Amino acid sequence: MNASDIRQKFLEFQVKKGHKIIPPAPLVLENDPTTLFTGSGMQPLLPYLLGEPHKDGTRLTDSQPALRLQDIEDVGDPRHTTVFEMLGNWSLGDYFKKEQIENFFEFLTEVVGLDPEKIYVTCFIGNEKYGIPKDTEAAEIWQNVFKKAGIDAKIAEIDTAENGDKRGVKPGERIFFYNDKENWWSRGGGIETTPLGDPCGPDSEVFYDFGEDKQDEAKFGKAHPASDGARFMEIGNQVFMQYKRNQDGTFSELEKKNVDFGGGLERITAASIGSFDVFKISLLKPIIDKLEEISGKSYDNNTDEMRIIADHLRGAYLLSAQGLTPSNKAQGYALRRLIRRAILRALDLGIAQNFLAEIVPIIAKEYETLPDTILTNRKEALAVLEKEEKAFRQTLNKGLKELHKMAAADKDGILNGRDLFKLQDTYGFPIELSVEEAYHQNIKLSDKYQEEFEEALNEQRERSKTASKGMFKGGLEDHGEMSTKYHTATHLLLAALQKHISKDISQQGSNITSERMRLDYNTDHKLTDEEKKQVEDQVNEWIKADLPVVFAEYDKDFAKNELKAHGSFWDRYPDKVKVYTIGDEKAPASREVCGGPHVEHTGILGHFKIQKDESSSAGVRRIKAILE
Ligand code: ALA
Repeated sequence: MNASDIRQKFLEFQVKKGHKIIPPAPLVLENDPTTLFTGSGMQPLLPYLLGEPHKDGTRLTDSQPALRLQDIEDVGDPRHTTVFEMLGNWSLGDYFKKEQIENFFEFLTEVVGLDPEKIYVTCFIGNEKYGIPKDTEAAEIWQNVFKKAGIDAKIAEIDTAENGDKRGVKPGERIFFYNDKENWWSRGGGIETTPLGDPCGPDSEVFYDFGEDKQDEAKFGKAHPASDGARFMEIGNQVFMQYKRNQDGTFSELEKKNVDFGGGLERITAASIGSFDVFKISLLKPIIDKLEEISGKSYDNNTDEMRIIADHLRGAYLLSAQGLTPSNKAQGYALRRLIRRAILRALDLGIAQNFLAEIVPIIAKEYETLPDTILTNRKEALAVLEKEEKAFRQTLNKGLKELHKMAAADKDGILNGRDLFKLQDTYGFPIELSVEEAYHQNIKLSDKYQEEFEEALNEQRERSKTASKGMFKGGLEDHGEMSTKYHTATHLLLAALQKHISKDISQQGSNITSERMRLDYNTDHKLTDEEKKQVEDQVNEWIKADLPVVFAEYDKDFAKNELKAHGSFWDRYPDKVKVYTIGDEKAPASREVCGGPHVEHTGILGHFKIQKDESSSAGVRRIKAILE
């Protein structure tokens, strides 16, 4: 069965079990401050999971395209994709754990035909602090289900993924208890980060075993379901959505208990063909085949690049086919980023010509069955993508040409740091690309190219200082935009000081203009050059990682004690505070109480540079910094 067959069979199976098919929601969300894209099947169903009646009844099913940009850096491994399709079924106060678990097992083993011996599952170990019990009920149901399939499933208490990495799986074990980091589901991740007012609950995840040889033990530790290694792959998640998070941070049981099931179509299909690599399935392999053909290179030797290109262009097609166009803001920027990353990786494969017109129709064909109500602009999608490709390639080509000219003009054929600066400054050709191109073309770089680059940058800074006040980069950015960037950079700087200098550092004052930022902080010493560099590098690392910046409102006590948000004036804040989080919700780079506004992702901040660290008053120092 290919992916389309499995999608079809899933919906048919769920209809047989009494579900109504509902149409999928658009990927691109508007007016949702918490997220840019639909990231799971349950998102459009939030009101119903909280108790509102649904017009189609209490048993619903669909296949929902979803986009998770937070996974973008993981793309390249065998199983992560930014875009995926989530097979979903929901019980709105109807059936619960037993029926869900039995049905999903039946679907996997009898409809898809997976070997029950290769199925492993996880359950929630409980949480004392919030009074949520261990889910022994789900584990017992699983034991019975396996027993009927002739399997004696033993139970293991793993608790944390780290324990699992050391312990691995003992003979006969098939049901594993983990803590909330693995087996609690809310839109915010773990139990502490469950958004106020959201439905949530313990979950039971289902994994497919691709065999011991797939686990890279040296890199990932021993294999167990929640390991990052490739032996076990999660193929479905059953959330027993029986709680709601109250405004005071506690949890109470919902009147009606729901099931929220989400299964990865790509991953279930991969399991069905016994491939631990999802890029081998029908939805993705034709793209890879075409890339092999265009580049004349093999997937086996260029795996990561081809996976990234295939994934990103699939995402780019789905977004543009929904009417999104590339821009420098929010969703439009995400689309731009997907296209550019794909083009850069294609360059690594030697594809220097326009190639989207060859790939996009292949992707469009795979999505012919998605309704027009979702893909409202499928006809225009290719033209939108090609236009962006052309524009970006012009930037790249001009830069490349100039780079070679510069090298040829030097008597020893060497590029220096000033050349690289000019390429970046005038032609928008990033220094990383110059260095890479020089390496591939055997062009020598001067020994001091980094220092020379910095020098040129500093000079330009001096020049722009004397230029008319408030004009930034030739007036491209308005003051408001630049101030917003400095505002976000201030949060990153404070977090970097706390991380590398002292956790007791807090903000004593701050002042931002469209040209620079200033942060006053308490400390007992002047930063050494090394410390300054450490802090600067940290901020730039976070910028480079292009972390998302999101906010939500919380009760003050919760923000302070549970979220551990940074705040300088707790006694002055109102009862409800707005908290900005930069980076991963579970382990953020920065989390601070703040009114905003901030940029939506750190990548657009540019390069962060500390200009001065000077004394301000007793025990307080002042950093002045700029974004270049
Ligand atoms: N909502 C659950 C998930 O996204 C099914 O994993």
